[in-house]
Amino acid sequence: MHNIHIAGTGIWYPDDKINNDELVDSYNSYVDLFNTKNKEAIENGDVIQMQQSSVEFIEKASGIKSRHVIDKNGILDNKRMMPRVNNEHEDRLSIHAVAGINAAKNAIKQANISTNDIDAVIVGTSHAARNYPAVAIEIQNELKINGYAYDMLVGCSSTTFAINNAYSDIASGLANTILVINPEISTPFVNFTHRDKHFIFGDGCAATIIQKDSTSEKSFKIIDRKLYTQFSNNIRSNYSYLNRAAIDTKNNEDLLFHQNGRGVFKDVCPLVAKLITDQLELNKIEPKDISKFWLHQANGKMIRLITSKILGTDDFDSSITPMPIINFGNLASVGSLFAFNLDNDLEAGQKGVICSFGAGYSVCSIIVEKN
Ligand SMILES: CC(C)(COP(=O)(O)OP(=O)(O)OC[C@H]1O[C@@H](n2cnc3c(N)ncnc32)[C@H](O)[C@@H]1OP(=O)(O)O)[C@@H](O)C(=O)NCCC(=O)NCCS
Repeated sequence: MHNIHIAGTGIWYPDDKINNDELVDSYNSYVDLFNTKNKEAIENGDVIQMQQSSVEFIEKASGIKSRHVIDKNGILDNKRMMPRVNNEHEDRLSIHAVAGINAAKNAIKQANISTNDIDAVIVGTSHAARNYPAVAIEIQNELKINGYAYDMLVGCSSTTFAINNAYSDIASGLANTILVINPEISTPFVNFTHRDKHFIFGDGCAATIIQKDSTSEKSFKIIDRKLYTQFSNNIRSNYSYLNRAAIDTKNNEDLLFHQNGRGVFKDVCPLVAKLITDQLELNKIEPKDISKFWLHQANGKMIRLITSKILGTDDFDSSITPMPIINFGNLASVGSLFAFNLDNDLEAGQKGVICSFGAGYSVCSIIVEKN
């Protein structure tokens, strides 16, 4: 009987980094400009006065201290408040493909394979770069990989759902080795003029090699996968190709990422804790025998709450829940993979859980065991 493994992972993130002091300074100067410009309308009650942001709130509410971004200058420019990016162009690689190839090279090296060994490429991301052709096919072409490639979208669970697809393709005999790539270039879609959202996201990309019977030193056997979805509008983007033809025009800001953060917190924490608890029970694994919980990186408090519900105590060693969110912010679907990549030095036989959750709602939990 064959096993299917995570044979290696790789991450990539941009060099630009914004800490909370810089972000809040820029946001507050935008607020001052706005309030000065709209002084009269604010006094007449026609416009709501904007409130300043604070480093203390951001760190207390989310745990985030800094984030890597594709363009720091554009985001911090109080007359722009968004990164500067190029439009997609046929003569050059897309921004998602560049990020994906960088992460893929690291994963291929760690898995100790070559591109000739890869049978398929799956790109999973929260934000489609374009409608077609698939970024996965662009990357396949650039890395000279034979076989097939496709893109998929599952919000903040795109990474783990893509790993799940790769597993299923291998289990069904379609392929032996699959390159999963998850570019999460979120900052172009963030409204940096919104106090409750401007601090949340960073940019990054992860790649994972899923392989039948891997012999790589860093490999983990996939023991079990559990997927769950439940419809919610609490995290939503209305951006679509339909916007161009829509008769009820929305302004650009209404189309961006928006969320009811408290609603998400309230709904998702118990949902995820129960899903992982049930999954461990079904696999006859005691929660205390899980050495690492590599969880979705949306909020530090959420990660602690979910873990304490699973373990039945909030008295646990914090090193079992790696938190790259502190330095990278919310990386959409690659948060759990960043956590895994940066902190997975387990002994043979030790187990861990990789779990993403977010828009949809969508949840995917994968139990792995170190080879
Ligand atoms: C988004 C999130 C960090 C916000 O934290 P929160 O504690 O719920 O904060 P709220 O937005 O409810 O605001 C609490 C208070 O802080 C204030 N506040 C909000 N943003 C602020 C900021 N940047 N600076 C200072 N104060 C701020 C609010 O005005 C509010 O004040 P009030 O109580 O007087 O009304 C948190 O809800 C969260 O992370 N939820 C999960 C989101 C998630 O998982 N998303 C998945 C996406 S992949």
